[in-house]
Amino acid sequence: MLDGKQTIFSGMQATGNLTLGNYLGALNNWVSLADSYNCFYCVVDEHAITIRQDPATLRANARKVLQLYIAAGLDPKKCCIYYQSHVPAHAELSWILGCFTYMGELSRMTQFKDKAAKHADNINAGLFTYPVLMAADILLYQSDLVPVGVDQKQHLELARDVAIRFNNIYGDVFTIPEGYIAKSGAKIMSLQEPSKKMSKSDENENASIYVLDAPDAIMRKFKRAVTDSVGVVRYSDEQPGIKNLIDIYCACTGLLPEAVEKEFDGKGYGDFKSAVGEAVVARLRPIQERFAELTKDKAYVDGIIKENAEKANYYANKTLRKVQKKVGFPERVR
Ligand code: TYM
Repeated sequence: MLDGKQTIFSGMQATGNLTLGNYLGALNNWVSLADSYNCFYCVVDEHAITIRQDPATLRANARKVLQLYIAAGLDPKKCCIYYQSHVPAHAELSWILGCFTYMGELSRMTQFKDKAAKHADNINAGLFTYPVLMAADILLYQSDLVPVGVDQKQHLELARDVAIRFNNIYGDVFTIPEGYIAKSGAKIMSLQEPSKKMSKSDENENASIYVLDAPDAIMRKFKRAVTDSVGVVRYSDEQPGIKNLIDIYCACTGLLPEAVEKEFDGKGYGDFKSAVGEAVVARLRPIQERFAELTKDKAYVDGIIKENAEKANYYANKTLRKVQKKVGFPERVR
């Protein structure tokens, strides 16, 4: 509890451009929750290097993600928006928590298995201990709530398990966080292979909508989205492509799937795809405009980065010092 409010923590990797999945599954919910909580929204650049990154590209992408947080509607005066690498306590707590996490637990993580299969030439220790750093991110701020998409559920469970294990040994050190997964948009699928999650790293550029895509690119990608031969706009597991488009439409308009089925009753897929494209364009336009303004205002963004890193360091260090004391590290001499 800080100032009578509960605390939220969440983050995004600084790899590639944010997708519509990142926006609808996470960022959009962060914005709606922001007024009711103390929020820490981090750009997780340390997690990003578990996959090889070009340094200049990583730096540029990290800044883009941070600006997109603000452009999407997070007020950096109220929410703490910062880079993970600017707060050393994340890596320090991660080391300690790693000594309370079992190899067996980490081996069961599906994201590790997927990424190890995809990057077989670089199965590094960081990729394996990735969820420990994520647990450190969350637990450092005594977070009550963690808004994420469905794909992060397993990592979040692990963070809870580690926190409970630590508390059982040392007393009430960490708040046990709860996940927050929204009803619509929590798992946006690829437009080309609707059995696969929409991902920043998809090589097929028609598979993902990026938050910074131009309107004509968005319309074109929806036009090319894979559907089926049924020909009816219905929210059904047998029609995964259409189901995904309905999910996107619902997340952008606030409608329920039944209302969408009704709206497009008797209409063809062409009309429906155009409507989804237009809803997405309308949703992303103000974000893109604000993003363009922020790109021109270097001094303002730099100020936010500096101020918020100080704030994050202050809260993170409070928890870290407590943990260091609990595990028996010698007191600092002042
Ligand atoms: P990342 O960067 O892969 O994704 C950021 C957020 O976007 C959500 N998301 C999606 N939601 C719906 N549909 C999709 N297709 C989709 N793709 C991504 C993710 O669930 C996530 O909420 N490990 C995390 C980053 C992280 C983190 C944390 C998150 C590091 N530390 C602490 C929460 C708390 C990740 O790789 O997210």
